[in-house]
Amino acid sequence: MDPAIFKVLHIIGAILLFTGIGGLMGCGENRPHINKIVSIFNGLGLLILAVAGLGLQGMMIKAWPLWLILKIVIWVVMAVIFTMTKKDKIGMKNGVLILVGLGCVVAWLCIMKPFTGA
Ligand code: HEM
Repeated sequence: MDPAIFKVLHIIGAILLFTGIGGLMGCGENRPHINKIVSIFNGLGLLILAVAGLGLQGMMIKAWPLWLILKIVIWVVMAVIFTMTKKDKIGMKNGVLILVGLGCVVAWLCIMKPFTGA
């Protein structure tokens, strides 16, 4: 399959993930409908990112450079921080700021591909 399709899916996954992250600001008690849609966006976004990302790894990279491993670690950390924020273990403002900050680090990793020596 064309890797471009996986790239588009990967970006759609990122859009869903960050829509879910923005939606955290609307979560709260007595808002079951919002809480549910935020969880769906987050879960679907993380899943599509991983499936399409692994497809891209298999088709284009065919190795495990440090920038890619760091991306996967950050992907896991984002899932944990999202859940902690939704469960009020981390304040909403801090959670959203941390998640956006991690998203910026991921953007840098994907585009600059540091630590490869290339
Ligand atoms: C927070 C999660 C993630 C975000 C926001 C993200 C975002 C992106 C973006 C914006 C690109 C650039 C696409 C392009 O060059 O057109 C990319 C590329 C890529 N991502 Fe991710 N990604 C994430 C997680 C992952 C994960 C979990 C993997 C797992 C293996 C992965 C593997 C890849 C690969 C292999 C590429 C292709 C790099 C290349 O162009 O050579 N990503 N990602």
